[in-house]
Amino acid sequence: MARSQKQLIYPNLEITGLASEGMGVARHEGIVVFVEHTVTGDVVDVQITRKKSGFRQGRPIHFHTFSPLRIDPVCEHFGTCGGCKWQNISYENQLIHKQKTVTDALTRIAKVELPEISPILGAPEPFYYRNKMEYTFSSARWLTEAEINSEEKLDNRNALGFHIPGRFDKVLDIRTCHLQDETGNKIRLFVKKYAEDRQLQFYDIIRQTGLLRNLMIRNTIAGEWMVILSVTEMNTDISGLLDGLGETFPQITSLLYTINTKKNDVMYDLDIITWKGNAFITEEMEGLEFRIGPKSFYQTNPKQAYELYKKTREFAGIEKEDTVYDLYTGTGTIALFVAANAKKVVGIESVPEAIEDAFNNAALNGISNIAFTAGDMKDVLVDDFFALHGKPDIIITDPPRVGMHADVTKRLLESGAKKIVYVSCNPSTQARDIALLDEKYKVTKVQPVDMFPQTTHVENIVLMEKRLF
Ligand SMILES: C[S@@+](CC[C@H](N)C(=O)[O-])C[C@H]1O[C@@H](n2cnc3c(N)ncnc32)[C@H](O)[C@@H]1O
Repeated sequence: MARSQKQLIYPNLEITGLASEGMGVARHEGIVVFVEHTVTGDVVDVQITRKKSGFRQGRPIHFHTFSPLRIDPVCEHFGTCGGCKWQNISYENQLIHKQKTVTDALTRIAKVELPEISPILGAPEPFYYRNKMEYTFSSARWLTEAEINSEEKLDNRNALGFHIPGRFDKVLDIRTCHLQDETGNKIRLFVKKYAEDRQLQFYDIIRQTGLLRNLMIRNTIAGEWMVILSVTEMNTDISGLLDGLGETFPQITSLLYTINTKKNDVMYDLDIITWKGNAFITEEMEGLEFRIGPKSFYQTNPKQAYELYKKTREFAGIEKEDTVYDLYTGTGTIALFVAANAKKVVGIESVPEAIEDAFNNAALNGISNIAFTAGDMKDVLVDDFFALHGKPDIIITDPPRVGMHADVTKRLLESGAKKIVYVSCNPSTQARDIALLDEKYKVTKVQPVDMFPQTTHVENIVLMEKRLF
């Protein structure tokens, strides 16, 4: 950081809003200032850490007023762990801000005629909702300022937890995480204690040494648990640890491990070996079963995913003779969920393994009016594809955060579909795409859904209906 920026302080800024990344927003001489760790209503002196032409970013160095919106975060790791940026405001206020994020994006970016935006569907359980957590072992635990300043010798630097945001080499040791069912904490703490009692080596990512690398914990609503342990070699210590886990936690129905000697932690290109139980866990929705393998994608808040899918199906209003396209289908969950209502469903997705899961899930559920294709959307969704599968009557699209490629939006405009249901995890890119689709499709319904309480993320479903010129 430049010296001049280090000393740049804006006094007495009032935080008037929250940015979608979770920072407070203020203004100084007309310029927007994003302020870390603040909420609407705080009044603070801000040290500027980043100066760009259109905005400034900074951190609070003195609070004149604490906002009445503030609440005490539940989690002891709040502020250091990057996970739950909005734990310091009530869930009710989180929802108000998420609703505003959607409204602002649609009015300021899409700038199209809008119906009334429905009140956001909040999650009934604002904690313990996640079905998947990924932890990292490290011999370079992140130290708090108090630890650094203390006289105590810090011999044990082991951590099993989350990376400090922006630091690949530093891991925050997690004692309790409030996002996954309590069993997840028990499993993680058991693994850490077992390893420390036997002095097993936690991984050193800089030196690329050590035995224990990663721990992934997944579960289902019905209570099946999957544990995947990533290690640099299989030996009697690891087999002892896996046996110990299996004996202590009978709810682990899928106990897996992998050997990772690569430089990075990514598990997706590794062989995953079953130590005990099945190679998958099974999630259930309206009688449909979804097999989730260690590498399979599944929405991480399964109860709210069900609400999201029900609303998507309701917006689509599928009739018996309709051909439905499910774009960016992932493992085909939405496609399978709506198949009973349609003549035919066609799912497209770029990840071949996800399409393999989609086919398997279709077979598992005896669903045959369905087709899946793997490939990049802009290359797959061409005239020949329409000719092969028939043009869609209804399109459901659920792209990644970047939204849809302009060629894909163009193809949607040419498709002739009577309805487009656009599900998005990024209202800004959704709004950009809606502006393009507005030429032929009118927004008739908008339903924000909160899938990720305590975070700044919001999901939004928009129904667009073909204009009758
Ligand atoms: C938000 S997820 C959709 C999840 C799915 N609808 C569900 O509910 O489980 C977006 C999906 O788009 C896929 N994807 C990303 N870029 C793509 C592209 N260019 N072409 C096709 N699929 C893509 C990702 O692999 C991911 O599965």
